[in-house]
Amino acid sequence: MSGSPRIHIARDEDDWATAAAALIHKLGREAFLDHGRFLIALSGGATPERLYNRLASPPYIDRFDWSQTAFFFSDERCVPPDHPDSNFGLANRALFHPLNINPDHVHRMHGEQADPDSAARDYEGLLRMACGSSSGTWPRLDLVLLGLGHDGHTASLFPDTAAVHEHHRVVTVGHAPSGPSTRLTLTLGVINKASVVLFLVTGANKAGIVRTILEPRTDADRRLPAALVKPERGRLIWMLDRPAAAELMTHR
Ligand code: 6PG
Repeated sequence: MSGSPRIHIARDEDDWATAAAALIHKLGREAFLDHGRFLIALSGGATPERLYNRLASPPYIDRFDWSQTAFFFSDERCVPPDHPDSNFGLANRALFHPLNINPDHVHRMHGEQADPDSAARDYEGLLRMACGSSSGTWPRLDLVLLGLGHDGHTASLFPDTAAVHEHHRVVTVGHAPSGPSTRLTLTLGVINKASVVLFLVTGANKAGIVRTILEPRTDADRRLPAALVKPERGRLIWMLDRPAAAELMTHR
């Protein structure tokens, strides 16, 4: 990883959404200038909704041209796209529709597919094509958004599951201990190849696990999926609010 993670601590959730929106715009412009497009993978869970709402509201809605952006997903629950637990469903309602994003630029994981393993392979093929990466090389996304679960999972890479130890595939099947159990997820291999990985975490109920990941004290802490996110030639950024950062020793 090029250097230690950059940790941004926002005053509160509102300030957090503003800072996250501005950062994503900045990273998008950098990608445009460098190679004429922006390849972003959206995270799942509830935390991104506040960010989506900010990106899709004035003044931010008019501050960024999304026409050269391709949207992917870091993970998906194996449910239909209109299911309340669908990560695509949330992004579609809160971001793609309000921003009038061209559906051809949205590449969702087909969580509803009967065979999750072939859905994962299909998505790997799609991601490779979009990133222009041939088999044997890792696709390089410009930005991967990730959340953080209380058990240290990220995307749908849950502790002590095979998906965490998948070192060849770009997309694999994940298994969650609760909620929709079967998932599709990007693997650590492709996440750690990204130009920028951005953890989006808010709330006092995440303060303990944030400290465990950013200030690990045991080998078990260092083996947690979120702790294994170390972009090889990219930047790692944590966008936190004060309650989520409350237990960090380095930021007291
Ligand atoms: C998912 C996610 C998962 C999520 C964390 C945090 O599909 O569930 O990708 O990794 O980011 O569980 O979820 P919250 O934002 O809801 O706390």
